Amino acid sequence: MVLPMNSTPSNHGPHVACIMDGNGRWAKRRGLPRTAGHTAGEENLAEVVRIASARGVAYLTVFGFSTENWVRPKAEVRHILSLHKRLFGRIEELNANNVRINWIGRPFDEPGARTPAFVQRAIRQAISDTAANTGMVLTVAFDYGSRAELLRAAQLSISESISGIPITTLNVQSHLYSPELPDVDLLIRTSGESRISNFLLWQISKAKVYFTERSWPDLDANEIDAALALIRQ
Ligand code: IPE
Ligand code: IPE
Ligand code: MG
Repeated sequence: MVLPMNSTPSNHGPHVACIMDGNGRWAKRRGLPRTAGHTAGEENLAEVVRIASARGVAYLTVFGFSTENWVRPKAEVRHILSLHKRLFGRIEELNANNVRINWIGRPFDEPGARTPAFVQRAIRQAISDTAANTGMVLTVAFDYGSRAELLRAAQLSISESISGIPITTLNVQSHLYSPELPDVDLLIRTSGESRISNFLLWQISKAKVYFTERSWPDLDANEIDAALALIRQ
């Protein structure tokens, strides 16, 4: 599904991507269940959206749930799904901040895709309810894996090549889930892991990368400013 990206954000700011990691460890340190960490993580995402938007970020792309995360315990997966419904339901707040919602992940009708119907509905609704906003584009990666994305783009490009369209960088790029997203300028990963974990492998080719020990629920404005300094020097 290619989503309508009717206009580019008005502020010409950078594309920042976040691997929102460490919710489980954040909860464990507090003697809470992992689900409480995810709840805190979703709340902090709402805060990060406000901060990023205020700092003039044009595109914020966040890793919400990966193609690899489905193997987690059922109750945890169910909780994370319900939090995505909450996240995509924050329409009033998104509209107040002039933020447009976008989504990347395995297309709903593709074999192997796993986004449940209630999350599909929430995604579609959020996209249409925020479509008129002209500020930051918030792309949520859900049921997303970069290898699945690139494999599909390669397959589509190869099929096109049979009818004479050459396989070029631009043509492969045009088959990414959200081809209109520009290259990532800055990738942030929280919670001390220095891995990419199958996130935006094509799009981060030229990105600066900022790793922090802080857990996602604790990522605050100071830390975001420190990360942004990497691309603003
Ligand atoms: C990130 O936090 C959220 C998702 C991957 C959905 P984790 O759940 O991976 O937290 P840790 O890494 O176990 O602390
Ligand atoms: C990456 O975090 C995926 C998301 C943030 C949704 P993980 O916690 O799943 O990554 P790994 O397994 O530690 O690489
Ligand atoms: Mg993790």
